[in-house]
Amino acid sequence: MATNHIKNDHNEDYEIDTMTNQRLIKDHEYDGIRELDNDLPPWWKWLFYICIAFAIVYLIRLWVFHSDDLIQNREYEFAMASAKDALPMKNSATFEIKILNDPASLASGKETWTKICSVCHLLDGGGLVGPNMTDNYWIHGNTVEKLYQVVADGVIEKGMIPYKTQLSERARLEVISYILVDLQGTTPAIPKEPQGTAY
Ligand code: HEC
Repeated sequence: MATNHIKNDHNEDYEIDTMTNQRLIKDHEYDGIRELDNDLPPWWKWLFYICIAFAIVYLIRLWVFHSDDLIQNREYEFAMASAKDALPMKNSATFEIKILNDPASLASGKETWTKICSVCHLLDGGGLVGPNMTDNYWIHGNTVEKLYQVVADGVIEKGMIPYKTQLSERARLEVISYILVDLQGTTPAIPKEPQGTAY
């Protein structure tokens, strides 16, 4: 490639490509390909400087003065807070196994019953695969604690599924409350014969 050697203002050697009349970087030649010594455009340089300035301000505000919060931190805290609400109240001191009498809990219990339990116990509690919930006969006892235990741990060998992982503690209490408050003592369409002991 034809080049002219010239000196610039700082007395540095430059070579000029005679075809294009552009400056070339000295000694930057790879397989005959030369690199032009063009200055970066001003807008690019300024953008670069502004980025550096922004980064310094960002760094100081965030890590030195802690005056800004990372968006990730806020997202993390928000996710943790909502996950805590969704989790079953495991081992929480306020959790008490007792009948929930309020209409909202009973309605929610009925929903669980309809969606999950009615397959085996029937919608009206008359019993099918699982026992009748309307009579006063119980295989495992009729206290809230006993029912809670059956629903949580199941009786797998008899076909009753454990719901410990599927239903939160509250959801289990709600469905049990629905059984004891709303289903007990009603007359189902086709009642299954009594199983267990009369209470
Ligand atoms: C796949 C069928 C099936 C499903 C679904 C099912 N159960 Fe059962 N359930 C049974 C069977 C079978 C038994 C009887 C267990 C035994 O003989 O010990 C039973 C027993 C019970 C008992 C104890 C009854 C007693 O006489 O002591 C309760 C309480 C109970 N189920 C509640 C529920 C609730 C609440 C749900 C829904 C969250 C549910 N079951 C879903 C099959 C089922």
